[in-house]
Amino acid sequence: MSHRPIIALDFASRSEVAAFLEKFPKEESLFVKVGMELFYQEGPEIIRWLKALNHSVFLDLKLHDIPNTVEKAMTGLARLDVDITNVHAAGGIKMMAAAKRGLEKGTVNGQKTPLLIAVTQLTSTSEEQMQHDQLIKVPLQESVLHYAQCTQTAGLDGVVCSALEAQAIHQATSENFICLTPGIRPSGSAVGDQQRVVTPKEAREIGSTYIVVGRPITQAADPFEAYQIIKKEWNGENE
Ligand code: C5P
Repeated sequence: MSHRPIIALDFASRSEVAAFLEKFPKEESLFVKVGMELFYQEGPEIIRWLKALNHSVFLDLKLHDIPNTVEKAMTGLARLDVDITNVHAAGGIKMMAAAKRGLEKGTVNGQKTPLLIAVTQLTSTSEEQMQHDQLIKVPLQESVLHYAQCTQTAGLDGVVCSALEAQAIHQATSENFICLTPGIRPSGSAVGDQQRVVTPKEAREIGSTYIVVGRPITQAADPFEAYQIIKKEWNGENE
């Protein structure tokens, strides 16, 4: 099976998501990302609904709290049968290990434990901000690689990162460590507010494991056509 780009469902309500999904053939099983905006409006029911439609779900809630709280929250998320979810690496190795334990506890018999990845430094954080606000006095890249290594030590599956960081992260961890990368733009499309973007082809060549694509699909005149073009480029078809 070819790899599906993950579509960021950055919508405010289930009705908007439903209107968007109607533009795809019913039998097309998608991989979608649900973030805080949608989840906090619609709650767990939105995940049950998407899974019942046969879509895979990356639940992007970026948990960061004390280990016990994160463990219990993750137990609940695993019961929703999400495919990927995440935490902030800044929560620490103990918190990340607790998150993984929680997911394992909540996985219903016979189902797959959700993949767990961590956010290192948000891509909205500049080196200057990191050094000033977090008092981390090393270059940004060093902090990202350190957090990636902590994530691996905690037993997680990978990180969310810029495709431009994927190579260095693989070197610092291992080749099969997941690098899930947003900031993707097919050649010739609007960049929007993203700063450092790469094309699906470049992401594949650099070593992204998954790509997350939002507006180039959600705002396209024909979302299914845009999705198919990006999916082909991501899979290296028609090259
Ligand atoms: O519309 P666009 O393709 O820019 O959407 C990318 C998605 O990935 C959004 O949901 C955005 O919040 C998310 N994201 C990101 N950069 C990160 C982490 C998440 O763009 N570092």
